[in-house]
Amino acid sequence: MEKILVIDFGGQYALLIARRVRELGVYAEIMSWRNAAPERIAEAHCSGLILTGGPQSVPEPDSPRCAREVLHLGVPVLGICYGCQLMAWLEGGEVGSAGAAGEYGGVRLSAADSELFRGCAGESECWMSHTDRVLALPEGFKATARTEKCPVAAMENGAARLYGLQFHPEVTHTERGREILRNFLYDICGCEGSWRMDGLAQRLIERCRSELAGKRAICGLSGGVDSAVAAALLERAMGGRLHCVFVDHGLLREGEAELVERAFRGRSGLNFVRVDAKERFLGRLRGVAEPEMKRHIIGEEFVRVFEAEAKRLGGAELLVQGTIYPDVVESGTGEAATIKSHHNVGGLPERMDFEGVVEPLRELFKDEVRALGRELGLPEELVGRQPFPGPGLAVRVIGEVTEGRLRVLRRADAIFREEVEHLPERPSQYFAVLTDTRSVGVRGDARSWGETVALRAVTTDDFMTADWSRLPLEALARASERITGELPEVSRVVYDITSKPPATVEWE
Ligand code: XMP
Repeated sequence: MEKILVIDFGGQYALLIARRVRELGVYAEIMSWRNAAPERIAEAHCSGLILTGGPQSVPEPDSPRCAREVLHLGVPVLGICYGCQLMAWLEGGEVGSAGAAGEYGGVRLSAADSELFRGCAGESECWMSHTDRVLALPEGFKATARTEKCPVAAMENGAARLYGLQFHPEVTHTERGREILRNFLYDICGCEGSWRMDGLAQRLIERCRSELAGKRAICGLSGGVDSAVAAALLERAMGGRLHCVFVDHGLLREGEAELVERAFRGRSGLNFVRVDAKERFLGRLRGVAEPEMKRHIIGEEFVRVFEAEAKRLGGAELLVQGTIYPDVVESGTGEAATIKSHHNVGGLPERMDFEGVVEPLRELFKDEVRALGRELGLPEELVGRQPFPGPGLAVRVIGEVTEGRLRVLRRADAIFREEVEHLPERPSQYFAVLTDTRSVGVRGDARSWGETVALRAVTTDDFMTADWSRLPLEALARASERITGELPEVSRVVYDITSKPPATVEWE
């Protein structure tokens, strides 16, 4: 299959670049610069390379780099921001501080008619974020675009098939970004656009069928979209050799267990078990307040429950998980810093009774997973729903998780969800958090010292960045009235108006 390798130099946009490439119909994978030895890249048989941005300065001695050879493996290379500067530097050009000419945000770009700018030459808006720049072009290169402050906003050496952009074509604020990437993929790399969602289910089923022949597996269902889709996929590939185990860990939302049971129990040929493990999980979480610790405990307990089920069901060699591509990258397996260990990646215990872990969705983005779920016939109420983290409400009860606090959060969350679901447009994710702040309340003549519930709603394409949702004030007012009315423990309701970054979607 044709593929583009995105070599990650520590930029926050590596994932976004891979996603844009896939949206244009070409499969893309991210490789850390640390692994980007020329032989490894050659073995990957890719159609082109993209070097990402990064926070460092190329001329500094310990900055991330790749060998010059990487630029001359016979496939075209596109350097973006830091990647463009690195290309210029490796080829013998000069890179240094832009001084007062650093550019941040939207800038007017003037592009010449060239291979990369075919069909988008002339003036347009681009998005910049750089403190360094190319000061002198390497031999064989010409500048193909400029801005008021930056004479080399783009460069190319057509004979060597090397292309550089100082700005970011992957962000939507760059007006012609999509066309520029398309030119690189199709005209320059010669891609044909073989990455299609239709037929993906069949391809994945066949791959799993042959790779997992004769093996038995346990698939953990958490109630979220990803594990549900992984289960539906493997059910088709493995039939009766797959057992789906839905763990009710006591950290589920209101109505969640029933929804999952409805969706799975009736599927013919599927082995489905629901395990009540509330006491076990809550027992281990007693007294634990540290978020990463909670994630690790939950990750470990999940596996112990699966091991016990595997034994009870007569043995299974494999454990299936619904890990998706952003989980892999955000957990630090990719180059960007570890943000938090998603329990289904970083949180697996070292010792497990299973021979291996199968993650059939590991290469897919969320919207691709949803499309796959629909192709596999899962109901819309399950596939189209907002994401829910594997560690469940444990990461939404800030501080220690107790049954009492979970009960308060579960109800507050259900009320908020109901109010949001009445709106004509729904945010991408919306939920309640039980904070660890107490505050004074007054009911009748009595003062109380109650809990604070925070409401969170975000709008996002890919959960890598997100904006807080401008919900109608009436909806927020109704949610607040109902929560404080129904839950005497809660004396205050607040609305979170922070985007990601600098915050994350979840509070823990
Ligand atoms: P953050 O909080 O990292 O969340 O901005 C991005 C998306 O990931 C979900 N999330 C998780 N999912 N295990 C999961 O399976 C986790 O540990 C986890 N933490 C966050 C979050 O709900 C949002 O959709």
